[in-house]
Amino acid sequence: MVLAHNYQLGEVQDIADFVGDSLELSQRAVDVDADVIVFCGVTFMAETAKIVNPTRTVLIPDPLAGCPMCEMAPAEAVRRRKAELPGVPVVAYINTTAAVKAEVDICCTSANAVQVVESLSAERLLFVPDKNLGHWVQRHTDKEIILWDGYCPTHQRITVQDVQRLKEEHPRAAVMVHPECTPDVVDVADHVLSTGQMIRWARESDADEIIVGTEVGLIHRLKGESPGKRFYPIGKLTTCPNMKRITLEKVAWALEDMQYEVSVPEEVAAGARRSIERMLAVI
Ligand code: 13P
Ligand code: SF4
Repeated sequence: MVLAHNYQLGEVQDIADFVGDSLELSQRAVDVDADVIVFCGVTFMAETAKIVNPTRTVLIPDPLAGCPMCEMAPAEAVRRRKAELPGVPVVAYINTTAAVKAEVDICCTSANAVQVVESLSAERLLFVPDKNLGHWVQRHTDKEIILWDGYCPTHQRITVQDVQRLKEEHPRAAVMVHPECTPDVVDVADHVLSTGQMIRWARESDADEIIVGTEVGLIHRLKGESPGKRFYPIGKLTTCPNMKRITLEKVAWALEDMQYEVSVPEEVAAGARRSIERMLAVI
């Protein structure tokens, strides 16, 4: 079973059995009954598939496809911050290492972050590691969100000027951006959505021209699912080099050579599974 994230190269998406956002991929991974999952995405996503479905062999075609945002919240630093905030629950964006997931109360993705935060009884919580997603959630809850200083280098490069320039060129176009974008970019957007939500919104809305503020790989699926509509990607630098490490050749080699196997030590996986399963019970 080949699972692929929405940011993968078009040719990789085209051979996958299932393509989705982080939430859809974790939900799908739970009930894969094939013996082997080839995960085309970054390492935290492949680890999540292994954690929720530990009896399957999970392969990633390039083990160096990491997410730099995960590195911005080392488990030891999260433990230290937790100790400074006794009794304050911790919500981890799914873009974290398994060791961090094992430390926290619950995970979330960009598709369910507000619902996850609202599901907690506490009025104050620590949100790691994405300050931009945390800031977005803060706009939709009365709870106090203590931010961590992490971000996605790809989304951080999208600027308000980029959006404004495209709006001048295409005045009829709607603007949708990912919540990993900075708050000033979110301010000028019409819709703030996960990648899966973007695909659905583009398909179902009346808008036939859409400015897209996220990683460029999404354009392939947007065009495929909404033929006839026009999509304008924001910025020239909106490529995630890690997602692009997975090529069609590497997927073929992964299948031929059964490499590279993803493993998560069970003592870490058990704690991480609890945080992911709590999230999946919310939505
Ligand atoms: P989605 O869950 O919205 O697909 O986002 C994943 C991600 O890594 C965004 O940069
Ligand atoms: Fe990580 Fe950003 Fe790439 Fe998503 S786009 S995998 S958050 S670096």
